[in-house]
Order: sequence, then structure tokens, then C-alpha cells
Amino acid sequence: MIETVDRLTVLRARIAAWKRAGLRVGLVPTMGNLHAGHFSLVAALRAQVDRVVASVFVNPTQFGPNEDFARYPRTPEQDAQGLDAAGCDLLWQPSVETMYPLGLANTVTVRVPGITEVLDGAHRPGHFDGVATVVTRLFNQVQPDVAAFGRKDYQQLAVIAHLVAELAFPVEVLPVAIARDADGLALSSRNQYLDADQRALAPQLYRTLQAMRDGLRAGRAPAKVEADAQAQLSALGFAVDYAVVRTPTLGSLAPGDGEAVALLAARLGATRLIDNLEFSLAPASTAS
Ligand code: PAF
Repeated sequence: MIETVDRLTVLRARIAAWKRAGLRVGLVPTMGNLHAGHFSLVAALRAQVDRVVASVFVNPTQFGPNEDFARYPRTPEQDAQGLDAAGCDLLWQPSVETMYPLGLANTVTVRVPGITEVLDGAHRPGHFDGVATVVTRLFNQVQPDVAAFGRKDYQQLAVIAHLVAELAFPVEVLPVAIARDADGLALSSRNQYLDADQRALAPQLYRTLQAMRDGLRAGRAPAKVEADAQAQLSALGFAVDYAVVRTPTLGSLAPGDGEAVALLAARLGATRLIDNLEFSLAPASTAS
């Protein structure tokens, strides 16, 4: 069975031994309640490194006061079994006290300016400060050569790429494709909050992203594409936080841009879902 470690001294000893042996170490940072999307991150890393560490830590600093920190699903035994089966070598499961030794009120906070102020950053104030802060700590604790992050959290990936470049972390960021259910719904631990009717509706997010892509490729103006997506999702019963088309760096699209990303965040009842679709604007392209 996979070794679960919750003490920093033990983690450091394991990592140091691997590094002394010349082994490359990969990290999959997670908040647990693992599903096939997380295991695809482990698989992608396995192809690149000699040892894979997964961290499971439900990070309090990235949840707002009215968000789902308390009810976020925690399934430690299931997670350990899944990571074992996925070929992960070590499970790093720190306590809040180990992650934030001076207490939550006294943390050193890492804030990435600019890119964190739009979209999810605007709708979830402080969220990306929490993400950047915990990812910085995880990088310092595990000292990975490579760290894998899912493309589903598009803005998070951009924030982490910025963080790594800006603070010169010697870590390669490995982006991994979105894992979807057969009906197109992006896998997420929050999908299990959905009741049967909401679950049946949720794949409309992916269909809307495809319609946004098709609209832009057909030459429709970005503002029209966004307004149509917003109206369509609202009519279906989603409470839409944003429905936007952007450049890959989340800027406004301009005529002649070759690459784009459509991004959605919408709530069904109390459950907030996000999804995105990256695509080329060239009509003949086969990019999805
Ligand atoms: O994507 C997540 O699960 C979290 O935001 C992360 C990167 C593990 C930081 O807590």
C-alpha cells in the first residue's frame, strides 16, 4: 500500500533519499476526493518522472467565508487506495497546523497580481491568494522537479505558471487535459453535490462552450457570443458568474487572433461549476 506521510521531517527524508539516488520527483497537488481526472494527472507525471507524490490537503485559505470548505468531501481511505492503484509512490497529507504553523491569521500570503483579479478572482475574492500560498508551500515541502495541474482550472494554471516564472521555482509545470464524463461534463469533486435534475443539465456547460467556439469561428463578435451563451445558460436555469471568450492569457480577443479560450462559471443551486475550451480560430483547424 502507498505510504501516507503527515510529518514534514519524514517527507523531507523520503524526497532527499530519492534525489540522492538521482531520481526525478513529480507532484500532483490535490484537495482529495480523487476521481479519474486526478488519476490522469498521476499517469501523465509517471511518464515524466521516477517518483510521484500526491498531496491531499483541503486548503482553508482558498475558500471564501460563504463557500463549501466545511462540507468539501473528504475521503482519505478511498484517496489512498486510488493513488495506490494509479501507481503513486507517496501520499503527502499534512494537517492545517503543518501547512500553516503560525496559524491561519498569521500566514505569509503569496499574491499574484493582475491575472488573479479577473473572472474567478473577481467572483471569489482571495481565492487565488490561497491557491498561490498553498502551492508555494507545497513546492517548498516536496521540492518536485515537475508538478501536474489540470487544464480544467484554466485560470489557476495561468496563476501557477506566473508564480513559478516570477519566483523562479525550479519546477516544470505540466498541464494535463480535462477529463470528461461521456456526456461532456468535466470531472469535478463538486459534481457529486448535483441532484439528478442538475446532473442532467450540467453537460449543457460543455455544449455551450462548443457553441461559443463555433460562433467565434463563424465570425460572430466576441460580445455577441458571450451574450448568447449567458442568455442560453440562464434560460436553462444556471446562475451564470461569467461566460467569456478570451485570448490564452485571458486578454480581450482582437481581429486576427489565432488562439482563444472560452470560459464558463455557473451555479446550479448551491453548486458552482467551471469549465473551459481552448481552440484555434482558424476554420480549417482540427483543434478541439
Ligand atoms: O486544484 C486544486 O485542487 C487546488 O486548488 C490545489 C492546486 C490543490 C491547491 O489547493
